[in-house]
Amino acid sequence: MSELRYDGQVVVVTGAGGGLGKQYALFFASRGASVVVNDLGGGLKGGGNSSRKTADIVVDEIKAAGGKAVANYDSVTNGDKIIETAIQNYGRIDILLNNAGILRDVSFKNMKDQDWDLIMDVHVKGSYKCARAAWPHFRKQKFGRVVNTASAAGLFGSFGQANYSAAKLAMVGFTETLAKEGAKYNIHANVIAPIAASRMTETVMPPDILAALKPDWIVPLVAVLVHKDSEENGAIFEAGGGHIAKLRWERSSGLLLKADDSYTPGAILKKWDSVSDFKTPEYPTGVADFMGLLEKSMEMGPNDKGETLDFTGKVALVT
Ligand code: NAI
Repeated sequence: MSELRYDGQVVVVTGAGGGLGKQYALFFASRGASVVVNDLGGGLKGGGNSSRKTADIVVDEIKAAGGKAVANYDSVTNGDKIIETAIQNYGRIDILLNNAGILRDVSFKNMKDQDWDLIMDVHVKGSYKCARAAWPHFRKQKFGRVVNTASAAGLFGSFGQANYSAAKLAMVGFTETLAKEGAKYNIHANVIAPIAASRMTETVMPPDILAALKPDWIVPLVAVLVHKDSEENGAIFEAGGGHIAKLRWERSSGLLLKADDSYTPGAILKKWDSVSDFKTPEYPTGVADFMGLLEKSMEMGPNDKGETLDFTGKVALVT
């Protein structure tokens, strides 16, 4: 099998001055793409002096290896300027890797508005601004690839990271909607929850574990997802230490009761085991899946008062 190539394509990598972003930038440049290396060079918590250096070092490394890259120092909250850098320098944008991120870990009891707002700004608004600016180009050229970055903290929760967890799960919902809206324009969006050694994890994981979690081991998955031949769209992946897996929602077989006077908290409690029975699960991928359940409910017929469920979930009078 020949190697995956990205010749003639333009890749924007946010937060590419270090960690995972740097590895993405080096890889795509080595496979023929022109890369916008974005990084404002701030501290891990989003504060500190910005330094152009981190992005410049990556650009120099790419150029020294014969690749094409340009630096951009804007915050992702000004994502339109980052995409503008791609358009001005290379005339197009094909692939967007929303990777920039910060942490402001603090127990929820001690969380301040600033801890919440900064995390939302960088992760949620930043990813939105970049994708929003790239979107018209993607639609016009009928091609676009987006990878957003979630986290296990978002999928499962994590002590001291209420702000970060909320922002990271937002990346999942954001991705799912981009995937649905983009599909007919050949715009694919997927989301990854990586785990890798970087300045984000170096203080919370022991050195032997970190050694097994090289940031470059996230790159091959992202490379597959954004390739022009990839059909993957709207999927969630976990990746780290050479392991890659897909995640999806699972719904229990659930409890369906007739919507009449017997539909009480006590009736639900009596059959609580069925509410959480995962023996015959379903794997919903959209709101439409829930409508199927409502149809089943309608099949149960009207209640004693002649009422039945309509598709909005309200009890409606049967005429
Ligand atoms: P990192 O701290 O090494 O890299 C993040 C980069 O983003 C830094 O170079 C930083 O300067 C840049 N950045 C921060 N705010 C920015 C802004 N407003 N505008 C532009 N650039 C900005 O961290 P790492 O580990 O490489 O993280 C990359 C992504 O992966 C982040 O979104 C992070 O939340 C996520 N992630 C990482 C995990 C890990 O195990 N390393 C685990 C789960 C998620």
